[in-house]
Amino acid sequence: MSNSKVVLITGAAKRIGACIATTFHSRGYRVLIHINESKTEGENLALKLNQIRKNSAGVFQADFNDQNQIEKLAEDSLNFFGRLDVLINNASMFYPTPLDQAQQPDWDELFNSNVRAAFFLCRSLSSELRSRSGCIINIVDAHVDKSLTNHPIYNMAKSALKSMTKSLALDLGPSLRVNGVSPGAILWPPGLENDTSEASKNKKEKLLKEIPLQRLGKPEDIANASYFLCENETYMTGQVIKVDGGRSLI
Ligand SMILES: NC(=O)c1ccc[n+]([C@@H]2O[C@H](COP(=O)([O-])OP(=O)(O)OC[C@H]3O[C@@H](n4cnc5c(N)ncnc54)[C@H](OP(=O)(O)O)[C@@H]3O)[C@@H](O)[C@H]2O)c1
Repeated sequence: MSNSKVVLITGAAKRIGACIATTFHSRGYRVLIHINESKTEGENLALKLNQIRKNSAGVFQADFNDQNQIEKLAEDSLNFFGRLDVLINNASMFYPTPLDQAQQPDWDELFNSNVRAAFFLCRSLSSELRSRSGCIINIVDAHVDKSLTNHPIYNMAKSALKSMTKSLALDLGPSLRVNGVSPGAILWPPGLENDTSEASKNKKEKLLKEIPLQRLGKPEDIANASYFLCENETYMTGQVIKVDGGRSLI
């Protein structure tokens, strides 16, 4: 039976989360893929990883608006391989909430997916993670230090996630490290990704001009930074590093 390390990644069916899962798996980890609505994508990813190495991936569904489902995800994650070394809080909802239009359900959805579930997963899993001298990685957003227009609730939720990173690093040491990665523009939001209209093209071009490296980052940039914080740099805790092509400098 394998005794390799185990990582749980939330929101890992596709996009950046799937890339983090694939990256950790390619470096020997067994992976627990959390999904909410993307069942097919999550199962296909697990199938692919299990074909590469038998019994090396599992899939778990949980809607982070439901506290019971968060608790069950933690329990199932611990039971599946019988150990957990790394928790990566990657799941997120992202949409504008201009002040005059924002409603209470927006507050709940954005906070639940971006920070509340992360907090309760940390609470339920920290004892096991400590016993493994493991680590927690929170995927934040470079915008926490420079708010994104018309996204006040998302900005607040990600700021809370950054703050949680520092708080838990203090409280969970010395045997458990807690760090964050703040992506800049890596993938266009799903709505913008396949939009070929002139307005959307102009929006994308304008944004790229604001980035010193003049291009989008790649999901691998976030996956590699997360892996680096877990495995290579073991004297870091409570830090949130930006991977944003220098955009925050402008
Ligand atoms: N994309 C970027 O350029 C960028 C920029 C800055 C920061 N980030 C951050 O990097 C991370 C990954 O970005 P991304 O663009 O790949 O993320 P994403 O596609 O927007 O979302 C990741 C996953 O979160 C899950 N999720 C959403 N609401 C949920 C809920 N209520 N319960 C459980 N899961 C839920 C979804 O799972 P299902 O599909 O299974 O429902 C979704 O696939 C996020 O934390 C994001 O904020 C990304």
